[in-house]
Amino acid sequence: MSCQECGGTGLIMKGKVAVRCNCIKKRERKHAYEQSGLTPLMREFTFNEFDLKYYSEEKTDPVKGMSLAQTAHITLQAAKEFVQKFIKNRQTEGLLFTGPVGSGKTYLACAIANEILNGGGQVMFVVVPDLLDKIRSTYDSQRSELTEQNIIEAAREVPLLILDDLGVHNYTQWTKNKLYSIINYRLNYQLPTIITTNLSVAELSDHLGERTASRLFQMCKFYRLLVDNNIRYVKRIESK
Ligand SMILES: Nc1ncnc2c1ncn2[C@@H]1O[C@H](COP(=O)(O)OP(=O)(O)OP(=O)(O)O)[C@@H](O)[C@H]1O
Ligand SMILES: [Mg+2]
Ligand SMILES: [Zn+2]
Repeated sequence: MSCQECGGTGLIMKGKVAVRCNCIKKRERKHAYEQSGLTPLMREFTFNEFDLKYYSEEKTDPVKGMSLAQTAHITLQAAKEFVQKFIKNRQTEGLLFTGPVGSGKTYLACAIANEILNGGGQVMFVVVPDLLDKIRSTYDSQRSELTEQNIIEAAREVPLLILDDLGVHNYTQWTKNKLYSIINYRLNYQLPTIITTNLSVAELSDHLGERTASRLFQMCKFYRLLVDNNIRYVKRIESK
């Protein structure tokens, strides 16, 4: 059915100027969502629903000397600020969320993605081990329509790249090279990357190599989310 506002042309007149109709913007947003790699569950992760009650007011973050709730609040603010800056200027500094299992790292990265996709931006969300598997599967050329080059270029060039779960992998020289080539490209073109990882700073360097780790330092602000209990379990108990 054609659009009531533009009659299917995609353009409407504002005075003497033709502007793109909302139906086109809506279609582009839907397309960007489908291309983003976010699962339906991840589309539900929003800043509004990010609950600070999961972070203890009593326990202290030994590095920052603040409560876990305070560090989580600061991290949430940094995520929101990133979105504001990115909307104004695409060449903005990225973020790296580190912390234990079930501390909300992926949640926050997805909340950023959702906010940007809603505003009409482009995001690519990839789970790092899956990305590496996908690249590897292109070597079996019978099965794959995508080439390694296609996949790497997409990750290099997308306005916002989210690398989820960096570090839960065996890093061979091959994997290190692939990640380096993506990260180095994005650094050179000042394209932001959001990263989630369970690894500490020292471990990042050990696993990825110093060249890649030092680039991450340069490109991203680091934030650590701490919890005394895995939020996955806490929510599971709450829902019973
Ligand atoms: N602040 C929060 N408010 C509400 N729900 C949350 C929050 N943080 C996490 N969750 C819930 O807990 C689940 C686990 O969080 P998340 O996937 O972000 O953990 P993670 O830190 O990425 O863990 P992992 O290291 O295992 O990847 C999410 O699916 C979400 O449902
Ligand atoms: Mg995660
Ligand atoms: Zn229209």
